[in-house]
Amino acid sequence: MSFFSIEQAPARLNRSELAVPGSQPQMFEKAARSDVDVIFLDLEDAVAPDEKEQARKNIIQALNEIDWGNKTMSIRINGLDTHYMYRDVVDIVEQAGQHLDLIMIPKVGTAADVYAIDMLVTQIEDARGYRKRIGFEHIIETALGMQNVNEIAAASKRNESLHFGVADYAASTRARTTIIGGVNPDYSVLTDPLADSSREVHWGDMWHYALARMVVAARANGLRPIDGPFGDFQDADGYRAAAKRAAVLGCEGKWAIHPSQIALANEVMSPSDAEIIKARRILEAMTEAEANGKGAVSLDGRLIDYASIRQAEVMFEKAQQISGI
Ligand code: GLV
Ligand code: MG
Repeated sequence: MSFFSIEQAPARLNRSELAVPGSQPQMFEKAARSDVDVIFLDLEDAVAPDEKEQARKNIIQALNEIDWGNKTMSIRINGLDTHYMYRDVVDIVEQAGQHLDLIMIPKVGTAADVYAIDMLVTQIEDARGYRKRIGFEHIIETALGMQNVNEIAAASKRNESLHFGVADYAASTRARTTIIGGVNPDYSVLTDPLADSSREVHWGDMWHYALARMVVAARANGLRPIDGPFGDFQDADGYRAAAKRAAVLGCEGKWAIHPSQIALANEVMSPSDAEIIKARRILEAMTEAEANGKGAVSLDGRLIDYASIRQAEVMFEKAQQISGI
């Protein structure tokens, strides 16, 4: 291990994160009763310009009046390049800040963007005498944001998570994409001719590099990496596949842009019973190995060592968080 120690963001369950437009208050109660871990009430891209002001009012009322249970509550403010942003922060944090856990900052481009919002939120919290500090979630969804992802991840003590905003990322990088968060058959390779001289097309994941880069920046700074939207909410298999490949890379959650995606995200992002049993066996085998003065031991024909213990411990921590819901 490095001598440098990584401070971990507060441990929150973030398997699923539901987007709810602030301009659609009729959706709020249903969201509050759902099984989602985190809800972000949106002021940005799901809200038309002439509805922004009313959406802000709806959100203030909803944060103050609705019983959201044990859900983590967030708001997605407008971008720093708009004049809506300062009022989003000032009005909502002043009038409902004690019910807000997180602020989601879209299209963040530089560490200075984070600093600016941190300054604003700090002043409001201090003026209001709030004890609880509001955390930040950042959507990495522009070429600039990806270029500066490490600095953004390290820019504030409030930072909790990085989210891959695949739709805007595609627009910003001018990627050729069809479905939000889906794949493109043109991102593929042809095999060499097989025995019968045919050739197979192997599709690739065009988002792999971006997602992997964001995961590393998040983990190196103790933050949660979260995968963003999957647009086709009729395609449960497509969603599951996208969530699984994000989980395999280290993401611990995925957005739901429709309530039907919540259960899928929770399912994929929770450790399975088999994984928990395996983790328990690894921990038991290592305890026994240590008692016999060994640093590594074999289990089911495979070597396990201290790295296996750390993985098993992470799995256990997650299982405990889930059972404590
Ligand atoms: C999310 O905001 C996205 O652009 O994908
Ligand atoms: Mg976006």
